[in-house]
Amino acid sequence: MVTIAVDGPSGSGKSSVSKAVAARLGLAYLDTGAMYRAATLWCVRSGVALDDTAAVAAAVRAMPLEMGVDPAAPGVALDGDDVAAAIRTTDVTAVVSQVATNLDVRDELRRRQRAIIADETVGGFSGGHGIVAEGRDITTVVAPDADARVLLVASEEARLRRRSLEVHGVADATSVEATRDQVLRRDRDDSTVSTFHVAADGVVTVDSSDLDFEQTVEAVLTVVER
Ligand code: CDP
Repeated sequence: MVTIAVDGPSGSGKSSVSKAVAARLGLAYLDTGAMYRAATLWCVRSGVALDDTAAVAAAVRAMPLEMGVDPAAPGVALDGDDVAAAIRTTDVTAVVSQVATNLDVRDELRRRQRAIIADETVGGFSGGHGIVAEGRDITTVVAPDADARVLLVASEEARLRRRSLEVHGVADATSVEATRDQVLRRDRDDSTVSTFHVAADGVVTVDSSDLDFEQTVEAVLTVVER
């Protein structure tokens, strides 16, 4: 079983790059950010006030979440309901950090993430000989003993441009500005519980600012093959 851990801030390209690396190596893929997003949606749908930390933690402990780990189609389901699109709306993005900075929520989701990573068959995915797990605390807390650990970074300018393209379909000055507040505020809020801007000991930094998608995938594969 091989474990590859990838962390990075918003817009660093970690999700698309990790998925491609997993597909290339025939490994499973775990998007831990999707788990925090699903937890947020679950609380909102259950009518739990997000500032009630005890109620949020209790709701997340009882959350019927199933994570698909096939990099070609990584599904996310809540109580059997496909929520892959619903967890990416701006409403969820705007409040996800509030749920992700709840330490009891982190304990619960980290426990579930470690169980998925340790599972020999990882969710029934036929690859079954390992996993690429990505997020903000995978290299440091969830899987510090991973076989390869990568911190994917990019300049603020590159991250805002990419996020703007994803959300608005364009990266002109107006859309980039509209993205700025949301991305930088979330980075700031998330930094209170995870360090994903500086590589921990033994973690290799890949800077994708001047790399295209394919070059970034190659750079991560080079780290894995070391
Ligand atoms: O949109 P982006 O790719 O930046 O974020 P994501 O990977 O979908 O993660 C969404 C949110 O989940 C982040 O803003 C963090 O609040 C939280 N998260 C976390 O706290 N720890 C992780 N390992 C992964 C995500």
